[in-house]
Amino acid sequence: MSESLQQLLAGWQPGHALPGGLYGNPHTYERELDAIFLKSWLCIGHVSQVPRVGDYFLFDIARESVIVVRGGEGSVNALLNVCRHRGSRVCDEATGHETRLVCRYHGWSYGLDGTLRAAARMPGDFDRSRHGLRRLQARVFAGLIFVNFAPEPPDFSVIERDLAAPLAPYQLDRAKVAHRQTYAIDSDWKLAVENYCECYHCQPAHPEYSVGHSHALSPQEEAAMLGPVKARAAQAGLTDIFYVRNSWLAAGQLGTDRGYKRYALMRGHKTGSRDGGQLAPFLGSIRDFDGGATDLHFGPMMFGLAYCDHVVLYRFTPRGPRNTDCEILWLVNGEAQEGRDYQLRDLIWLWDVTTVADKRIIERNQAGVDSRYYRPGPMSEMEEFTQRFLEWYVATLRATGA
Ligand code: FES
Ligand SMILES: [Fe+2]
Repeated sequence: MSESLQQLLAGWQPGHALPGGLYGNPHTYERELDAIFLKSWLCIGHVSQVPRVGDYFLFDIARESVIVVRGGEGSVNALLNVCRHRGSRVCDEATGHETRLVCRYHGWSYGLDGTLRAAARMPGDFDRSRHGLRRLQARVFAGLIFVNFAPEPPDFSVIERDLAAPLAPYQLDRAKVAHRQTYAIDSDWKLAVENYCECYHCQPAHPEYSVGHSHALSPQEEAAMLGPVKARAAQAGLTDIFYVRNSWLAAGQLGTDRGYKRYALMRGHKTGSRDGGQLAPFLGSIRDFDGGATDLHFGPMMFGLAYCDHVVLYRFTPRGPRNTDCEILWLVNGEAQEGRDYQLRDLIWLWDVTTVADKRIIERNQAGVDSRYYRPGPMSEMEEFTQRFLEWYVATLRATGA
């Protein structure tokens, strides 16, 4: 007989990976969707993906589809893609532009704020005002779009409070997505996040990254390199806030995880490029390279890396018990023009090659934890953030009692 979720969680030893039964398990996956993804603030994209009124993209998770659309007053609305008549999907394309959202089944027509505008030949007492598309809570902060499925979401203001100052110099609200790419990973989403959260694997697996980033060194070596970066911050137009981390918060604060941590690039490296040289114009009010880069963390599925000249966002979306999409957004200065100010191939080189390697690593990890002989081993100090993630995961699922 298979073990219950709580039995599996009870088998977890702190400082270790999870028991094998928790990876790729359909029952566990359903609990995770309910307990984590349908309750947390989810950072899902950037405002430049919907620049004009009527532009939209679909965000799919947990068998739900959300229309993220630029509304009339410049707002970004998140509408459930479920017609209020008999439940058809309203929008089909992953991205698009519409002046009205029209359901093709029987033609009900909705405004960009979700209000039902027209429904032909309905009875005289039909009340259109009660049949708009359901709206999710949505927020735009620093150009990033967040949504939450919960009727009463956790307090979003703590994210703004902690990250406003460190993010200010980047002016991400004025940046644009230069490129998006999705990497389909055949693994449990947790293995993808575990891998993202540690750099113990960077030296063996990512020579292209390790040559330029001190994060691939031990925590002590990494910390020792930060002094010169701090000394140059003000002159470069960067904030002197180097560390804000309220990440992996389980008890009562689920879904407001936020983090910011600056670390040094290696000598001769200004940014995440093949030769260390500049890739694109400076972002926002940044005036110079200070020799650093910043790790970012927003909620259970979005991470980022901010360089002075571009930002890379990594969104890990669960697609099934053993399927995860890693979507990468490369953001550059909104004024920058491809070909003139940056070369796309050069811009995306590092994180494409690194993510292709990670996909392989994570899939091999899934294959290994599927073994009946797999037993979780102890982790190193370089996996501290992964350990925090697993503590959070276990505490969050235990709290559901399921
Ligand atoms: S299901 Fe949408 S109009 Fe009928
Ligand atoms: Fe990696």
